[in-house]
Amino acid sequence: MKVVITLCAILLLSSLGHSKPNVKWWQEMSLYQIYPRSFKDSNGDGEGDLNGIRSKLNHLTESSVDAFWLSPIYPSPMVDSGYDISDFVSIDKTFGTMKDFEDLVKAAHDARLKIILDFVPNHSSDQHEWFQKSLKSIEPYTDYYVWHKGNVLPNGTVTKPNNWVSVFGKSAWTWREERQAYYLHQFAVEQPDLNYENENVVSEMKDVLRFWLDKGVDGFRVDAIPHLCEDVRFLDEPLTGNPNPDDYGYTEKIYTKDQLRTYEMVREWRKVLDEYVTSVDERILMMEAYTNMTMTMKYYEYGAHFPFNFGLITETDRDSTAADFGRVIITWMLNIWLINAGTANWVAGNHDNSRLVTRYGQERAQMITIMTLVLPGVSVTYNGEEIGMEDTWISWEDTKDPQGCNAGKEGYEKASRDPARTPFQWDNTTSAGFSTNPKTWLPVNKNYVTLNLAAQKQQDNSYYALYKRVSEIRMFAAVKRGTLKTHLLGNNVLVLVRNIDKYSVYAVMNFANEEETFDLSTLVQAPQLNVYYATTNARNLIGMIFKDFRALKVPASAAVIYLATAM
Ligand code: NOJ
Repeated sequence: MKVVITLCAILLLSSLGHSKPNVKWWQEMSLYQIYPRSFKDSNGDGEGDLNGIRSKLNHLTESSVDAFWLSPIYPSPMVDSGYDISDFVSIDKTFGTMKDFEDLVKAAHDARLKIILDFVPNHSSDQHEWFQKSLKSIEPYTDYYVWHKGNVLPNGTVTKPNNWVSVFGKSAWTWREERQAYYLHQFAVEQPDLNYENENVVSEMKDVLRFWLDKGVDGFRVDAIPHLCEDVRFLDEPLTGNPNPDDYGYTEKIYTKDQLRTYEMVREWRKVLDEYVTSVDERILMMEAYTNMTMTMKYYEYGAHFPFNFGLITETDRDSTAADFGRVIITWMLNIWLINAGTANWVAGNHDNSRLVTRYGQERAQMITIMTLVLPGVSVTYNGEEIGMEDTWISWEDTKDPQGCNAGKEGYEKASRDPARTPFQWDNTTSAGFSTNPKTWLPVNKNYVTLNLAAQKQQDNSYYALYKRVSEIRMFAAVKRGTLKTHLLGNNVLVLVRNIDKYSVYAVMNFANEEETFDLSTLVQAPQLNVYYATTNARNLIGMIFKDFRALKVPASAAVIYLATAM
């Protein structure tokens, strides 16, 4: 028997995101994250590089991408895949030369793409010249890092300053004989934290921003920002009840995260970027902030163009209902509206999390991709998600991620981020067309033979076909500038409505494992609904026109996008 679900008049959100004149380039961009080690190798060494990226810019333009963000490309011992930087103003030779970078900036701008770099202010590599000099107390570097003499027990033994734990597990303090002191590292042992109590560090890092801005970059994704500053009383953090002192979750982060000085630094960086604003140009700051909503919103207040919205990663999973997704969307929209902050953004994946398809399965992953593209503001796509790449199983021997390595052979599979970082699958040739070298820095997923961009370009029904087609809808005024309303129809169907003037787009997503019938008659003021796109299970609907909206059907775990023009 068919279940008829009538419109349950739960208007979850109305009319947020009014159309704004003078919208800036970044406010409605499709942003694409490139993980340089895995995007495209141009010289056959098995690792991606800048010339490889340049050779593939056409993939971005064909996919309606407006801007791309590069994970770190600076010199690095690669303990944390480039997030351990040994020189903030140079290019790692694995990725190429400064000339290659300049060529990439030019090619990107010629292709009307904005280019954004990763700015990693919290820490450097322990191989950075500053740390090497700090270790030897050479001025002015002595206090460039967070050093502490430790606590001296009555018997003379020196112990760690406090119970702070590193994000990657184990103590956040490491002893150095040379200096007879502990240094702080909120991430890997090889990533010492910079000391923002030191004005030289503050000014050096501003110069790092200026260096890249002078090269023409359009902005920065700011790494690990909540961890930037610490409370300098160095007190123990309260315990959470987790019995393992090596687990990051052992303590409550009241002294090592979200400190006021961190926000003050963001304000300072914004001033630096504003030195470069012209009437036609603006450079941007995007914050990587895994923190609570209040502290996330605070970045807007302190000058960030936007903090990433990780709600679709951290607040939902395979079992989430239509209402759960609706709640994530509304919570974000309401919060930015409350502080009058304007630009929303939607992140569904990145190099630190399991791949979208692996987390949710094909059908749900497709719905989430649709959400990120149809919702107001910035959509963020991690490379490979546009073709539905899946996590790759990596052996212990091949594991590179310090978070995996720290967890040991028994625990690495749960902790390692390597499975989501394997080479991009371009085609079905050697190493998936990523490299001419059959040996790549992380193994290529064996499914590349069938799961690759070239194959998906030939299939109407592929993940990439969905990505491309739905991305095109971002050009429509209703999606670009329209209002957003979300409706929950019954328990399982979520509808996103974007509207401007007489034009509307309806994205209907069925989270149930069975077909749902729904009534859009009170929502649609147009004479007809045209099906613009439908996911795999509903493909027969594509191109159809409906004039009666009272009993529309959407198959199990499918999504349908309708267009309507009112008279
Ligand atoms: C966040 C980055 O996304 C992650 O990959 C890295 O390990 C940490 N920050 C430390 O830089």
